Amino acid sequence: MYSEKFQKSLALVEAAREKNIALEPDRMTAKQKEDLLAAFHPDYKKDEFQELKIGPNKGEKVPTELAEILQAHSRISASSIDLENPDYETDVLIIGGGGAGSSAAIEADNAGAKVMIVTKLRIGDANTMMAEGGIQAADKPNDSPATHFVDAFGGGHFAAKRELLSQLVCNAPEAIQWLSNLGVEFDKTEDGTMVTTHGGGTSRKRMHAAKDYSGAEIMRTLRDEVLNRNIPVIDFTAAIELILDENGRAAGAVLMNMETKELMVAKAKTVIIATGGAGRMHYQGFPTSNHYGATADGLVLGYRVGAKLLYAETLQYHPTGVAFPEQIFGALVTEKVRSLGAKLVNVNGEVFMHPLETRDVSAASIIRECSERGNGVDTGNGLGVWLDTPMIEEIGGEGTIMSRIPAMWRMFAKYGIDIRKEPILVYPTLHYQNGGLDINPDCMTTNVENLFVAGEAVGGIHGKNRLMGNSLLDIIVFGRIAGQSAGAKCKDVTVGKLTLDHIEKFEAEIGKAGIDTEKVSPVLLPDYTRRK
Ligand code: FUM
Repeated sequence: MYSEKFQKSLALVEAAREKNIALEPDRMTAKQKEDLLAAFHPDYKKDEFQELKIGPNKGEKVPTELAEILQAHSRISASSIDLENPDYETDVLIIGGGGAGSSAAIEADNAGAKVMIVTKLRIGDANTMMAEGGIQAADKPNDSPATHFVDAFGGGHFAAKRELLSQLVCNAPEAIQWLSNLGVEFDKTEDGTMVTTHGGGTSRKRMHAAKDYSGAEIMRTLRDEVLNRNIPVIDFTAAIELILDENGRAAGAVLMNMETKELMVAKAKTVIIATGGAGRMHYQGFPTSNHYGATADGLVLGYRVGAKLLYAETLQYHPTGVAFPEQIFGALVTEKVRSLGAKLVNVNGEVFMHPLETRDVSAASIIRECSERGNGVDTGNGLGVWLDTPMIEEIGGEGTIMSRIPAMWRMFAKYGIDIRKEPILVYPTLHYQNGGLDINPDCMTTNVENLFVAGEAVGGIHGKNRLMGNSLLDIIVFGRIAGQSAGAKCKDVTVGKLTLDHIEKFEAEIGKAGIDTEKVSPVLLPDYTRRK
């Protein structure tokens, strides 16, 4: 139900719908994409980035908000922590209770290791739970991991670490089988064939989904598996500092009870960072599709003990975040809406781009339409473009929306908008951290022994832009590898004397570099206090 001010534009969208359905918009050339990104993508706005003055990536530029927390003070002073009497002792300490952390826990448990998950919220409070559209795997006769590789490598600007991307695509069919065996209910036809669709930048239909709540279905299953195995999960407990041993190897973490602020020590033979993304950092003031705890904690923890970052300057702005109504501003409108046939249309009812360009290109294209070209719709809370959802019913037949994207329908129906009959307003939203900690193929960081990373906190798997459905895939593939590697590695580890000496060293670097800051990190939760 749109108010009067939207009616003129809506009438134009409706009048052009039949013509727009038939229209086959051109794909952009490589040069057109390059120019578009340089002019309109937020990653290319030079004044939004700052050079790091300290740490392993000194001299490199990252988003200003990230630089501030990477170069901030610790939440603790080392002398206040009793490292001699740990509160917990385990083989594998997993920081983060999302899809990557849970997959790692299951595999480390399979490897016979003693495993413990700590999570600052609850198991499942994670971006995995919020994922909608699906998970890619080349498991159809017309497809192959090599084709999947080519799509993802190109989509990521040829910057992915080849060995990581190769692992991702080659392990994808098995990941689907693993999830299926655990109980994930993927969409299937009556004869049991998996239903697959396109995503932006895919040359084959390889997106497997559980309607438009694929992440919730996967997280439900993983969480049940972790709990059924009685793997200890310490909820509402954040890791606020990593602990090394005297040999410089990861050996645990200082934990903080989120409610009482009590500090505890967890000693471990190996540590896995699976802390997820950074949407709640709201880089450049963007809204986000991320869960409440996405504050780049893993990057901060790793950086402070000397782990390198890769591509921390690249973020993903999902092209279609909700632009209206304000109550769900920034929430994800799954790319699957476009896979099913909906096109992006400007204030005049004109299609202005191919609906399934890669995400960075699509986001930049929408920003250009609303800024330079002046063809955005004024939502009363910013600008947006129409995503013409009624096209889906016309193309796929009545009932397609309810059977394929029921959660989308419900999200808008709450606000009186029936997406079967009315288009919706969208604008890019901060969705994914392309960069993160640099790892080897066994998921161990390239320069801190016994420190493993999985999921969104990893950098380099996708290069500088990720394709839809490769994130749910990477949390499973690399979550499992991290669990297997850390579970195996801990058998050969004897932990030396625990130390937090790195905190003092980092403080000294802050001082020497003349960084004047009162910030402490990791951030843990966003601060939405209203200030004058
Ligand atoms: O559009 C989506 O459903 C998001 C998927 C993803 O980020 O992989």
